[in-house]
Amino acid sequence: MPFFKIKTLQKTVIAMFTLGATCLAPTLASADASYYHEFGNRAGIHAVITDFLGYVLADNRIKAYFTNANIPVLNASLTNQVCMLEGGPCKFDENMKAIHQNLGVTEAAFNALAEDLQKSMNQHNIPLTAQNDLLSKLAPMKHDIVTK
Ligand code: HEM
Repeated sequence: MPFFKIKTLQKTVIAMFTLGATCLAPTLASADASYYHEFGNRAGIHAVITDFLGYVLADNRIKAYFTNANIPVLNASLTNQVCMLEGGPCKFDENMKAIHQNLGVTEAAFNALAEDLQKSMNQHNIPLTAQNDLLSKLAPMKHDIVTK
């Protein structure tokens, strides 16, 4: 009888793990992409980036950095980058350090740019959890981008 009980317990535990694994996989996958959806998918991200770049180009603190930048290319790259970071089906593999190494970006400029991004995300009513997720993924890039 005790043997039977142990066996039953083992089966129950195995069943729980199997069930857990099957249930968990789709949950994790959708949790990954949920921020992407909260941004309104790629079109929503593109709209946020377009207005963000508008703020950047009008921002006296940092607009000089972008005098020679190709804005449509920058827009497309940033849209792909944010799409990928938020779990969307986009590819992005550019090297942040190489791109920014000769630009002389200061910490103040980095913070100003982050403010402009927040302004655009707020304007587009992106939920705060999704905003914070993106900002937490961009923040560590400061080490590669700020050189001055
Ligand atoms: C986490 C923050 C940042 C991210 C994710 C980011 C991302 C990018 C990306 C993906 C590109 C490449 C565009 C392309 O494909 O040509 C780029 C270019 C550029 N970034 Fe950033 N950037 C950040 C911060 C900054 C800051 C703070 C500045 C200056 C205030 C800046 C100035 C530039 C400029 C001027 C270019 C254009 C370079 C060129 O066309 O040669 N970036 N950035």
